[in-house]
Amino acid sequence: MVDVILGLQWGDEGKGKIVDYFAPKYDIVARFQGGPNAGHTLYVDGKKTVLHQIPSGIFHQHTINIIGNGVVLDPVTFKRECDIVSSFGIDVRKNLYISERTNIIVPTHRALDKASEMQKGESKIGSTLKGIGPAYMDKTGRNAVRAGDLLDKSFTTQYIKLRLKHQKLLDNFHFIEDISAWEEEFFEAIDFLRSFNIVNGEYFINNKISEGKKVLAEGAQGSMLDIDFGTFPFVTSSNTISAGVCTGLGVSPKQINEVLGVTKAYCTRVGGGPFPTELENETGEELRKTGNEFGATTGRPRRCGWIDLVALKYACMINGVTQVVMTKADVLDKFENLDVCTAYIINGKETDQVPFQMTRVQLNPVYKSFKGWNTDTSIVKEAASLPKDMSVYIDFINKYIGAPVKYVSNGPGREQIVAL
Ligand code: GDP
Ligand code: IMO
Ligand code: MG
Repeated sequence: MVDVILGLQWGDEGKGKIVDYFAPKYDIVARFQGGPNAGHTLYVDGKKTVLHQIPSGIFHQHTINIIGNGVVLDPVTFKRECDIVSSFGIDVRKNLYISERTNIIVPTHRALDKASEMQKGESKIGSTLKGIGPAYMDKTGRNAVRAGDLLDKSFTTQYIKLRLKHQKLLDNFHFIEDISAWEEEFFEAIDFLRSFNIVNGEYFINNKISEGKKVLAEGAQGSMLDIDFGTFPFVTSSNTISAGVCTGLGVSPKQINEVLGVTKAYCTRVGGGPFPTELENETGEELRKTGNEFGATTGRPRRCGWIDLVALKYACMINGVTQVVMTKADVLDKFENLDVCTAYIINGKETDQVPFQMTRVQLNPVYKSFKGWNTDTSIVKEAASLPKDMSVYIDFINKYIGAPVKYVSNGPGREQIVAL
C-alpha cells in the first residue's frame, strides 16, 4: 500500500514538514521525482535543516528511505546533505537506499542549465540551475548514466562519452566557464555514492509491499510545475503529480491509496512564469515578510499572492487528492481581509478552468473576500480552538475544490499541526 504526499501549487507548500510528521506511521519513505532543485525544510530537535534529495523520513530511526528511479541525483549535493544529516547523529547508510535506475546529474548538466537560461534572457524559466532540465533530457534522449552504472567498470567511458556530447552543446552556447573544479568534486562524490546501498528499487519496494509494509511517496516541486500539466514552459522537467509515483518508483496504480495534497493557505511561486493571484503590492510584501518567503534552495524571494482555487481544484483533479493539508495558516493570523480566487477572466470571458497557456492572454482573477480571524493560531493544539472565521474560510475551500482539508499546519515546528 502506497500513500502519497505532494504539493498542489508551485512548490514550497511545506511538504517536507508534513512528510516528517507522518513518516513514523510508515515503513518506507520514497522520493519519486525531482532532484536537488527541491528544498524541504524540517525542524529536528528545534534545529532547522533543509533536505534536497534525501527523503524527509531520514530522521526517523525505523523508517527506510529510498531515492527512486524517477529522481535525478546529484552526487555532489548528495554528499553535502549526507554530512549534514550525519551531524544529527543519523547513520545515513543504514536507512537510505538508491534505485540503480536513478539518473545521475553530471557537472556538464549544471553548465548546460546555466548556458540555456542565459541564452533565454528575459524569457528564462528561473531554473534553480541544478542541471534538472538537461539531466531529464538525457534520460528521455537515452544518453544518461544511472546509479547502477557506477558499479560497472564501463562507468568512466560512459561518463566521457556524455561529457563530449555536452561539450559540443556548450560550445554552441559559447559557454566558456572552466568546470574542472566541479569535475574533481564530482568524482570524489561518486566514490562516496558507491558506498551506499544501490538496489533494484522496483523489486525492493514491491517486495516490501507484499510483506505488508507501508510506503509513503514524497513529492517534490508542485502540481503547477508538472512538465505536462503545469504552466508550461515555466515548469520543472518531471511529472510531479501522483501518476509520477508509479513511473518514479515502479509501483502499480492499484497500490496507490491516499493522496494527501499540500497547499499553503495563500500562494507563492519562485522563478518566472504566470501567477494569476500574485500581489505586487504591500499585501504581497506582508505575506513574504510574515511567511518568511525566501527559497529554501536558492534563497530567492518568493512571489506571494492569495490562494488560487481554480488552480487548486485542477490540481486536486489531476492528482486524485483524497485529503488536503493546509499549511502556513498562521501566516494569515493578522490579515484583516483574505481574498480567494474563484475564477479567471480570460480575454473578457469568465472561466473556472486552468487554460492551456496563461502568457499570451489577458488574465484577471475574480476574488471572493473573507474576514480575517485576527487570532494567534500558532499556539492552537486542537480543532475546537481554531477561530470560527478560519472554519468559514476552510469550509468554502472544501466545497470549491471538492476535497476535504483534514489538517491545518500552524507553524514550522514538528508539533504545530492540527487534525480537523
Ligand atoms: P517544501 O519544499 O514543500 O518542503 O517547503 P519549503 O521547506 O521549501 O518551504 C516551506 C517553508 O515554510 C519552510 O520554511 C517551513 O519551515 C515553513 N513552514 C512549513 N509549514 C509551516 C506552517 O504551517 N507555518 C509556518 N509559519 N511556516 C511553515
Ligand atoms: P520544492 O520541492 C519551488 C521552480 C524553479 C523554476 C522552475 C524550474 O522545494 O517544492 P528547475 O530547477 O526544476 O529547472 O526549475 O521550477 N522550482 C521550484 N519552485 N519549489 C521547488 O521545489 C522547486 N523546484 C523547482 O524556481 O521556476
Ligand atoms: Mg521547497
